[in-house]
Amino acid sequence: MIFCARLAYGVTPGETLHVIGGIVLTALYAAYQWRHWLRVRPVRMRLDYGLGLLATASLFLTQASGFALAFTWWQARGVAADYAPVVVALHNIGSMLVLTFVAAHVGAVLQRARLIGGDVLEG
Ligand code: HEM
Repeated sequence: MIFCARLAYGVTPGETLHVIGGIVLTALYAAYQWRHWLRVRPVRMRLDYGLGLLATASLFLTQASGFALAFTWWQARGVAADYAPVVVALHNIGSMLVLTFVAAHVGAVLQRARLIGGDVLEG
C-alpha cells in the first residue's frame, strides 16, 4: 500500500503502523528463524535449503534496510522524512525478493514432502 500510494500520490499512508508492526514482527521472526535453524541444520546441498538461504538473506536485507529507514523516520517525526534513495531501493528490491524466495521455498518444501510422503514440518 505504501509503495503504490507513494507512486500514485506521493504519500506514505500507514507508515507508523508499518514501522511498529515491523519491529514486533522482526522480533517474532528472529525467534522463529533461530528455532528453525536448530531444527534443519546443517546446510545440505538441496534445492529447498538453497531457496531457504536466499529467503533468509532477502528478509535480512529488507529488515536491516527497514530499520535504517525507521531511524530516518524517527528523526524526522512531524515533518516529511528525507529517505536516502539507495536505502529505499534496497528496501523495495528486498521486499520483492522476500515474496519471490519465501514462496519458492514453501513450494519446494511442499513438493519434497509430497514426493517422499513425509510431514511438511519434519526436518
Ligand atoms: C519483510 C519485511 C518488510 C517488508 C516486505 C517491507 C515492505 C515495504 C515496502 C514495500 C515499502 C514501500 C517503500 C516505498 O514505496 O518506497 C516500505 C516502506 C517502509 N518500511 Fe518496510 N518492509 C518490511 C520491514 C520493515 C521494517 C522491519 C521496518 C522498520 C522497523 C520498515 C520500515 C519502513 C519505513 C520507515 C518505510 C517508509 C520508507 C519509504 O516510504 O520509502 N520496514 N516497506
